[in-house]
Amino acid sequence: MSGHEFQSHFEVSGDVDHTDKSTNLTEENVQEMRYILDRYPQPRSAIMPMLHYVQSVDGRISPAGVKVTAELVGVSEAQVNGVATFYTMYKRRPAGKQHVGVCVTSLCAIMGGDYILDACEKHLGIKAGETTPDGSVSLEAVECNAACDFAPVMMVNWEFMDNMTPDTAVELIDKLRADEPVQSTRGATITSWKEAERVLAGFSDGRADEGPTAGHASLTGLNIAAEKGWSAPDPANLPAPEPKQEEQK
Ligand code: FES
Repeated sequence: MSGHEFQSHFEVSGDVDHTDKSTNLTEENVQEMRYILDRYPQPRSAIMPMLHYVQSVDGRISPAGVKVTAELVGVSEAQVNGVATFYTMYKRRPAGKQHVGVCVTSLCAIMGGDYILDACEKHLGIKAGETTPDGSVSLEAVECNAACDFAPVMMVNWEFMDNMTPDTAVELIDKLRADEPVQSTRGATITSWKEAERVLAGFSDGRADEGPTAGHASLTGLNIAAEKGWSAPDPANLPAPEPKQEEQK
């Protein structure tokens, strides 16, 4: 990536990037982090939402964000680093304005996930784990999103894009880069990665009810059961389990 004015390889192993001390965190942001802390009986429970908040401001886990989180929660910076470097949703290098994930786990892969990722990489000119030089899009190969009934799926800022193809993936990326309105196939309006991170930190954007709670594919079994008059057994009157073989002797 040398020669580009913007570099990002957020999926690298190792620590938070302490060579980049820049931060946008202000005293007002620290106040909001205190507000997050106050919602949890155990201060340590606030670490994860606070780190999402740091990403909503700095676009990554910044050393300043780690320091403030550690001070507010009352733990060491090493402990906060441990959380920030364990979970893949925390980015140690700047993510793009829009963060795009392509599921490449078994079912999505069988349905074309690898081809979609390949198309995205070629179209963006980056590899999974990198951000475009203009900072507009970051790309990630993600593991099963528990949406296999809509495979192959993509995510934009953690919102679902169902039943994708290489062509619709490229179209989606073009729209995102052109700042055209984009909606998840489940209905939610795509905002930006930072805005989505603020919601994950616990600040509602009022969009939680946009779109259906379950799509047609997830409801197919339920609809078939309703049509045929099937119902689940009463949990209070389940048949007794078969005795184990030793007990039968
Ligand atoms: S394998 Fe892609 S959502 Fe499950």
